[in-house]
Amino acid sequence: MVGVRMTTGWYIAFEGAEGCGKSTHAARLAATLDAVLTRETGGTAIGARIREILHDTSVTNLSHRAEALMAAADRAQHIEQVVAPALAAGRHVVSDRTVYSTLAYQGYGRGLPLQDIRSINEWAVDGHWPELVLLLVAPPEMVERRMRKRQLDRFEQEDAGFHQRVLAGFLEMAANDPHHWVVIDAGLDVDTVGATIRQAVTDRLGL
Ligand code: TMP
Repeated sequence: MVGVRMTTGWYIAFEGAEGCGKSTHAARLAATLDAVLTRETGGTAIGARIREILHDTSVTNLSHRAEALMAAADRAQHIEQVVAPALAAGRHVVSDRTVYSTLAYQGYGRGLPLQDIRSINEWAVDGHWPELVLLLVAPPEMVERRMRKRQLDRFEQEDAGFHQRVLAGFLEMAANDPHHWVVIDAGLDVDTVGATIRQAVTDRLGL
């Protein structure tokens, strides 16, 4: 168990590389827990506009620092408008990506200093760090199969090295903080993965 049950809801993060199935499982878990389902980037109307720029493949000259700040701006808005009020009202929040995606993509992936990313985001999240992080890891063949079916966005078009650094970053964060993170094998069938996630939530949060 992560800690004593609070009067507020629990903040649960789904993280992982593209094509790992986290959106599906975030939606399933949120339905099971009657939690608020949300996402970063794009969890608010303002965030949706920021997301458009971040994903647009015609945006070819966005600086890495600007990219990191835009992700943090999306987050500041999302935390203040969606996450904090829901938690304060006693609702659980399930978020498809959180602050850890900026550490993975802009920190490990782009190579920006992790300490800088952390401090910008300390400010953006205003004390709201997820209490449980479910890291979904799918085998590369499964990810490639799913990606072949999609129109790739600006991040998905990055080279294999970028995606390897992102995944290694997620795994390093999970290894360094096993108290908050659970690594889920997302290569199995959807119901088995869903059951593993459900069990992890019970084990860690008592829900
Ligand atoms: P997704 O919402 O379809 O998972 O795509 C979001 C993309 O944005 C994904 O490639 C990861 C990227 N991203 C960042 O680079 N930094 C961030 O902070 C977040 C939330 C997402």
